[in-house]
Amino acid sequence: MSALALGDPEPPGQPGRGSAKGPFSVRMPVPPTLRPVARTEDTDVYRLDILPADLELQAGVRTPCLTFGGSFVGPTIRAREGRRVLVTYRNRLPETANVHLHGGHVPADSDGHPMQVIDPGAERRYEYPNRQPGATLWYHDHSHHLEAEHVYRGMHGFYLIEGEDESRLRLPSGEYDVPIAIRDAQFDPNGGLVHGDPAARNVILVNGRSKPWFPVAARKYRLRVLNSSTLRYLKLNFGSLPVHQIGSDGGLLPAPVDRTGTDFPLAAGERLDLVVDFSGLAVGSKAMLTNQGQFTGDDRIEPVLCFTVDRRERDRSRLPGTLRPLPDLPPATVHRELTLSFDLNGTPVGLVNGLPFDADRVDQRIRRGTTEIWTVTNGDTATKYGPIQHSFHLHLTEFRVLDRDGRPPLPGDIGRKDTVPVPPGTSVRLQATFDDYLGRYMYHCHMLEHSSAGMMGQMEIVD
Ligand code: C2O
Ligand code: CU
Ligand code: CU
Repeated sequence: MSALALGDPEPPGQPGRGSAKGPFSVRMPVPPTLRPVARTEDTDVYRLDILPADLELQAGVRTPCLTFGGSFVGPTIRAREGRRVLVTYRNRLPETANVHLHGGHVPADSDGHPMQVIDPGAERRYEYPNRQPGATLWYHDHSHHLEAEHVYRGMHGFYLIEGEDESRLRLPSGEYDVPIAIRDAQFDPNGGLVHGDPAARNVILVNGRSKPWFPVAARKYRLRVLNSSTLRYLKLNFGSLPVHQIGSDGGLLPAPVDRTGTDFPLAAGERLDLVVDFSGLAVGSKAMLTNQGQFTGDDRIEPVLCFTVDRRERDRSRLPGTLRPLPDLPPATVHRELTLSFDLNGTPVGLVNGLPFDADRVDQRIRRGTTEIWTVTNGDTATKYGPIQHSFHLHLTEFRVLDRDGRPPLPGDIGRKDTVPVPPGTSVRLQATFDDYLGRYMYHCHMLEHSSAGMMGQMEIVD
């Protein structure tokens, strides 16, 4: 296509060559946890290299990837609320890169502004204060025009903030707290990743492996699920396994929500924090996580991850009745309207309110401390390619979804959110308070081929 990456990828089909061992023969890796190089009283200091690596994403085949720290998914950074993290990223790629902490309340010069890139061979230190409630964040490249390809080729990892309130909740922790990144990919016959027509991405990777299995004890697990696709919408389902949603993008919900048997639609960049209970399963039994092709004519349901129960274990963790109250939503004093669309005359250009991204232009000036309502509309109802999906992501702070076209939010909209789907021809109303840092931050469609094509705006928080 057209590089346009409009979306609507086909549901996943058969993995290409190299998966000759057949489905569910490879164990799902858990991304390694990054160790600090130093610790002070109030700070953990890390170093992480951005570098190319040839990795075995499909059994028996090496795939050239762009990585953080040589793994796909990159290493997990585990931070604690109120304890600062400093990360120095060294760019060992032959091209520019940078790092955005998605979901982080961070100073503007640590946000990975698309124009603040790290040159090849150079390094840059980012400061993450972690003065925000515990949540499932992720980091990824955000260098302008390259972010889609960089993330597609592997530049993403988890960043988990543990809230001050979490240890007393006694949720499943340690090896029972498992980050899982799910995304699509297309491989060429030699095992190379093809960043071309999104409709041809027919393999679903779970923590960087196609159709892996994962051994579990018959007990509760906390699973942090991220859709790390650049474009694809997922629709996940755990079958009859008891599943409670305990959090969304910005941290814990007020109380667990029983979502057993329900679908979990997930736009690229969204996260789910879940407690899944395997205790009812016999040792030796299996349970499948499935994905359903979405927004395609073909809605095949495909298993993407097989949990294998291999032992019984004593489970001291809990699923508490209440978790964490949501912060107050002060009354909004400013209203803004944003429309996402494409200019499809010639090379597709992504637009917000009719304009492509321009780093020299500030699109929204926001007074610090203000609470605002943003109405975000998908204007691509009837293009020459048909209706086009979009999503909306805000840097710096979370929002609450108030309604969609005047109707109640979707089940996936609950809690503190930073990324939501915006289907064609619909509007979503969001309320946010901008009370952290001053400076310039992004908001954009998180279908990264769209933001790479310009569907991004810049806001400046001022005093
Ligand atoms: Cu995850 Cu501006 O992005
Ligand atoms: Cu972000
Ligand atoms: Cu879009």
